[in-house]
Amino acid sequence: MNINAISDTILDETSSPEALREALDAFVASCSEITNIRPDPSFDAWAEDSLLDNGVAINPQAAAHCAIDYQRSVVFIRGVYAAINALKARFPDTPLEILYAGCGPFGTLLLPLLGRFSAGELKVYLLDFHQRSLDSVKLLLADFGFCAHAVQTVKANACDYKHTGKLHLVIAEAMQKSLEQEPQFAVTANLAPQLCPTGVFIPQRIDVSMCLADLEQEKELFGQSQKIDSNGLEKSTPRYLVETVCTLIPEHAFDQVQLAQTNSDGLRFELEPTIVVIPTMADIAGLDAALFTRICVFGRYWLKDYESQITLPLKCHELSPLAGGERYRVSYQLGSYPKFHFERLNSK
Ligand SMILES: C[S@@+](CC[C@H](N)C(=O)[O-])C[C@H]1O[C@@H](n2cnc3c(N)ncnc32)[C@H](O)[C@@H]1O
Repeated sequence: MNINAISDTILDETSSPEALREALDAFVASCSEITNIRPDPSFDAWAEDSLLDNGVAINPQAAAHCAIDYQRSVVFIRGVYAAINALKARFPDTPLEILYAGCGPFGTLLLPLLGRFSAGELKVYLLDFHQRSLDSVKLLLADFGFCAHAVQTVKANACDYKHTGKLHLVIAEAMQKSLEQEPQFAVTANLAPQLCPTGVFIPQRIDVSMCLADLEQEKELFGQSQKIDSNGLEKSTPRYLVETVCTLIPEHAFDQVQLAQTNSDGLRFELEPTIVVIPTMADIAGLDAALFTRICVFGRYWLKDYESQITLPLKCHELSPLAGGERYRVSYQLGSYPKFHFERLNSK
């Protein structure tokens, strides 16, 4: 399968899940063969990760592995394609300046699309902290026949990189579920202000909400992303929204970070906290508090909970066992390991 056939399958909204998986597997197989980088989830191997001030830049093998988080890759690639076409209509006479921050070794969210545009239409900057990833994308550009396209690689930290001139599109996916560990928030806060008016930042919105849910039951129902049962009906289980604890909208991210404060014991640098109250309910003993992530990539392209690794729920162990009426201060902590922090304020 060549790169254009791969992108045809991914963009075709009638493609079956199996066809989409085959297309992404073929993409990864070609990329691995050309670059000699093998995808590896590396959950226990931190050795080649870079621990930066604003979060972890995962190593090239782990970044390559993101490609086979299938639904994530499909929804992002379709969203990026839709955004480029929307921007072409907005800026018909100018080559679009596109920064892909954290491109990883395979440039998964953009490389499959390059062949759909002529050489003069786009000016692309592929940025990553890891030189090995940039060397890898250069090999891919040559092998896929994209040498005539205006593509530059940039070795930089996306949390403080300053682009010369204004950008039309920024693409950044440096996150795990619940915005934990990787620097998505800090990257967005730095890069979104560098867009031109009516430019687009991808993803356009990320919401993290605290809910009460029976996670064991949900895992059984949704664990394989099969939200539809054999009768074509959407499976469901009761879930109770407690509060949205963080919303990352690119236009607001810079101000949110400016307003971030060091907490009273001086240990954390955190965004404005949310106070949540655990509802009093009869069946609370069978429920868990968990953080659920939803991502609007662009327009109608959304990733909902359980649809990808980055939108799986994260159990809030700190709140177990749940007790109705308890209040918690929930804050998103920036810094070298971004994550949510929970502080119990009182009993009932
Ligand atoms: C989750 S991977 C995603 C890879 C690829 N964009 C994809 O979506 O398949 C995140 C990538 O961002 C890079 N990255 C993370 N933080 C970064 C930073 N502060 N500056 C530059 N690159 C960073 C990592 O090195 C890694 O390649």
